[in-house]
Amino acid sequence: MSLSPKIEARKDMAVLQIRTFGHPTLTKKAQPVRDIDAFIVELARDMVETMYCAPGLGLSAPQVDVSRRLITVDLSVGKNGKDLIILLNPEIVGLEGEITAEEGCLSVPGVFEKVSRPARVEVKGLDLKGRERSYAAEDILARVFCHEIDHLNGKLFLERLSPLKRQLLKRKLRKSQESLGLNEDRFLRQS
Ligand code: NI
Repeated sequence: MSLSPKIEARKDMAVLQIRTFGHPTLTKKAQPVRDIDAFIVELARDMVETMYCAPGLGLSAPQVDVSRRLITVDLSVGKNGKDLIILLNPEIVGLEGEITAEEGCLSVPGVFEKVSRPARVEVKGLDLKGRERSYAAEDILARVFCHEIDHLNGKLFLERLSPLKRQLLKRKLRKSQESLGLNEDRFLRQS
């Protein structure tokens, strides 16, 4: 879906704060979007802006502290308007194969690890006008869909790593947050 002129004309788009490892919304299962109201439309636009600013290939609503099933994806990171995908209530309805490749997450800055994902997925959801959309994705697009849909289920890509690697990384992340003076202990215990 490309940016409509209406979206481009909007002057008050906001870059939202991306929440990082330890924030409780990141480990919650997000709720389906039932009404595509002004809040959802504005959230989607702000998420696109935030994703481009980061920059990232994809973003999910829980990452900006909204526990709703909404993702934005753009492999061109804004360079090619037709690459933008805004999907409500996305679901993986088919998957095939497996590819292991390096992956990172805007909510886990500085960590890149190899993660196995399906090579091809079929994803269904709704666009901002409530129309059903279906994507046959492979390779990086399939990976981004899987990664963002994991976020909607309260799962960070760290959960896809081996238990040993995961524990090491979590310990490291907690330490670096502590050294930054972030007092999110009560959040950290839940992750
Ligand atoms: Ni992520």
